[in-house]
Amino acid sequence: MDSSINTSKGLYIKNFGCQMNVYDGDRMQEMMSSHNYNPVNDIEDADLIILNTCHIREKATEKIYSELGRIKKILDLKDANTTIAVAGCVAQAEGQELVRRAPMIDLVFGPLTYHQLPKILKSFDNDKSQNRKPIIDIEPPNIDKFDILPNRLGQTMKVSSYLSVQEGCDKFCTFCVVPYTRGIETSRPFSAIKKEALDLINSGAQEIILLGQNVNAWRNTNNTEMDFADLIYELSLLDIKRIRFTTSHPNDMNQKLLMSFKDIDKLQPYLHLPVQSGSDKVLKLMNRNYSSSFYIEIINELKSYRPDIAISGDFIVGFPGEDEKDFIKTLDIVKKIGYAHAYSFKYSPRPGTPAGEMEDQIEETIKSERLARLQDLIRLTMRKYNEKFLNKNLSILVEKETSKGFYSGRSPYLQSVHFEADSSCIGKIEEIKIIKINDNSLVGEILV
Ligand code: SAH
Ligand code: SF4
Ligand code: F3S
Repeated sequence: MDSSINTSKGLYIKNFGCQMNVYDGDRMQEMMSSHNYNPVNDIEDADLIILNTCHIREKATEKIYSELGRIKKILDLKDANTTIAVAGCVAQAEGQELVRRAPMIDLVFGPLTYHQLPKILKSFDNDKSQNRKPIIDIEPPNIDKFDILPNRLGQTMKVSSYLSVQEGCDKFCTFCVVPYTRGIETSRPFSAIKKEALDLINSGAQEIILLGQNVNAWRNTNNTEMDFADLIYELSLLDIKRIRFTTSHPNDMNQKLLMSFKDIDKLQPYLHLPVQSGSDKVLKLMNRNYSSSFYIEIINELKSYRPDIAISGDFIVGFPGEDEKDFIKTLDIVKKIGYAHAYSFKYSPRPGTPAGEMEDQIEETIKSERLARLQDLIRLTMRKYNEKFLNKNLSILVEKETSKGFYSGRSPYLQSVHFEADSSCIGKIEEIKIIKINDNSLVGEILV
C-alpha cells in the first residue's frame, strides 16, 4: 500500500488583491482538503504553495515576482521539492510570461480555472520526465467552476463570510484590467447562492457579504425578473444576522436597491460606491458613463431613505489628462459626500488597457503630490465621521480575538471596533460604548 495516500500534505495559500481573491483562496483550500492538503502557516512546511495574485496596479503585479524570489530563497535553503502555483489575475493576464520570468513556477491557472487544480496537479506529479514542463491552464472552460467545486464544508468558516454571486465585468473602464482577467459579467443562479448561504449559516456564519466585481448588476439567470434587491430580500429571510455587499457600480444602482437600505433590516447601512473622480471630463475619459452630479444624486436619494448610511468610495488620481482643476473637483466631491471610508490610488498604466495608450500621461511627482493631498483630506473626513460616535453605543458583531482578552468586530457602519471581553462574545452582537477614536479603528467597552 502506498503510505503517502494517508499522509496529510501542507498547503500554503497567500492571497493578494480584493475580497474576490480571498473568497477564491478559501474555495481552493476547501477543494484541496478533500485531496489531503491541509493549511500550513509556514512556507517551509508546504508541499504546495499557491500565490493568488492581483494585477490591478503595476505594484501589485511586481509584488508577485518579489514574493517568488523570497520563496525561492527559503526553498533553496531547505532543498525542498515543493510545487509552486500561481493563481489569480496575474496568472490570467500573463500566463506564459510568468513562467518565462520565473522558471521556478510549476502551475499557472486563473480565476475561472482553479477548480481544475487537482487534475493539473495530478498530471504534473505523474510527469516523471527529466525536463518536466510547467502546466498553464488559463483558457476559460465550457463548464462553470461552481458546478465542480465542493460544497462549503465549514473549514474556512468565518463569523463574517464572503459569498460570490457575480463575476467578471463588461464595463471596460479605460484604466482597468478586470474585464480581461475575470472575463465577461456572469451571475450565479439564485438556487446556487441560497444553497451556499445555507451551508455558510450551518457552519456558523452570522453575516454574509455578497461579492461581485459589479455586484449590483446581478440578475437571476433562470428568472430575469429577479434582480439584486430581490436577492438581498430573499437572503434576509434566512437565519442570518447581517448582510452586506460589495462592489457596486453607480450605473447599476436603482431605486429598489436604494430603498432596500430602509426596507431590509438585516442589510447594513454601508455602501461602497466608487466614483473614481469628481471631474466629468476625467469620468468621460475613464468610460465611467456617469457624471459627478448623477453620483451625488444617487447618494442624496439614498440618504433620504436611510439618513445614517455610511458611504465609502475609491478614487484614482493622475489619470491621463487630469489637470489641477479636475483634481480639485475630486477634492470637492470628497467634501460633499463626507465619506465614512475611502481608498485612493495613483493611476497605474496597465498593459492592454486603452488609458495606458493615452497621451497626456501625468508625471509621477504630480501623481504623488495629488495623492498625498487627497489622502490628507480623506483622513480628516474619516476622522470627522468617526468622531460622531465618541461616547455613543454601537452594535458590534464580534469576529475574533485580536490579543489575549481583546476582541474585535464591526459596527453596522463597518468600523472596526476593539474591546476587552471573553471568548463567549464571538459570533454575537454586543453593545459597545465607544471611548476612543483611532485613525483606522475605534476602541470601546462592553455594556453589561
Ligand atoms: N468594480 C469596481 C472596482 C474594482 S477595482 C468599480 O467599478 O468601482 C478596485 C479599484 O482599484 C477601483 O475602484 C479603482 O479605484 C482602482 N483601480 C483599478 N484600476 C486601476 C489602475 N489602473 N490604477 C489605479 N487604480 C486602479
Ligand atoms: Fe474595472 Fe470598471 Fe469593471 Fe470596476 S466597473 S471592475 S473599474 S472595468
Ligand atoms: Fe486584483 Fe483581480 Fe481583484 S486584479 S483587485 S484580484 S479582480
